[in-house]
Amino acid sequence: MATSELYLCAYSTLSQKQHDRDNQVMMPDSVVDDVLLSVKNISLSFGGVKALENISFDIRKGEIRAIIGPNGAGKSSMLNVINGFYHPQDGEVWFKGIRRNNLKPHQIARQGISRTFQNIALFKGMTTLDNLMTGRITRMNTNMFWQAIWYGRAERQEIEHRERIEQIIDFLKIQSIRKTPVGRLPYGLQKRVELGRALAADADLLLLDEPMAGMNIEEKEDMCRYVLDVNEQFGTTIALIEHDMGVVMDIADRVVVLDYGRKIGDGVPDEIRNNQTVIDAYLGVSHD
Ligand SMILES: Nc1ncnc2c1ncn2[C@@H]1O[C@H](COP(=O)(O)OP(=O)(O)OP(=O)(O)O)[C@@H](O)[C@H]1O
Ligand SMILES: [Mg+2]
Repeated sequence: MATSELYLCAYSTLSQKQHDRDNQVMMPDSVVDDVLLSVKNISLSFGGVKALENISFDIRKGEIRAIIGPNGAGKSSMLNVINGFYHPQDGEVWFKGIRRNNLKPHQIARQGISRTFQNIALFKGMTTLDNLMTGRITRMNTNMFWQAIWYGRAERQEIEHRERIEQIIDFLKIQSIRKTPVGRLPYGLQKRVELGRALAADADLLLLDEPMAGMNIEEKEDMCRYVLDVNEQFGTTIALIEHDMGVVMDIADRVVVLDYGRKIGDGVPDEIRNNQTVIDAYLGVSHD
């Protein structure tokens, strides 16, 4: 079966959530309707290293947006800017039509951005179930004070969170490892648990930094299917960093290409495939 058949993808549209717009700079409604996130003229340096130079692109609601490029191109740095780990020296990030100030990562997570990491970031001594529960933290709004004086509410919330986690466990088919400490799991399954932890946040935008890296073909196909299903069934918008061009071209709606911190391509897979600058810098050379 051709991979393109295997990874057929469908758009789905997110409903726009209510948000507090007081004292915020707004984008015109026509733009807000379509674009979930946009970065404008982002520049980020580490000492003399220019990780990102004047980068602009957007991510539309419901799409799978791939970010590709050679090692050191600035892909992970871009995700780190989007989720607030890095604050760029220049440029703007707009999310849900609002220009974001320098928020902290947990505040950005609460706004609806969740992620996985290039190097798995799980609590290795904790079980799959407990790791997934950590993904719910941004959605927990009962603090210790309320837990003490209003136990019923805290208990109800706990039940809701556990139900959502059970749905994710079923979705990712990881029932058999729910009680296993994740440090004991094979690499491919750890990656799947990390996806589950990111899903547990019920975010509008999911950032996936090389979710298939280091996997064998079967694990890759499984992960691809999950990424497509998350996009299709949950309506989650996805930004995906991936080196496997077969996967990228099959599942991405649009692709942005970075090279040495600069943007050298942006378009649908066919445009990227035929972009000579991209071919010279990346597609025409071997990489993994
Ligand atoms: N925290 C940091 N401190 C110093 N330099 C950094 C830091 N993070 C990234 N860089 C530098 O920024 C550049 C871009 O790195 P980045 O990790 O974003 O690349 P990448 O495209 O994700 O590469 P890869 O495909 O290897 O993961 C590199 O030169 C890197 O060394
Ligand atoms: Mg990276």
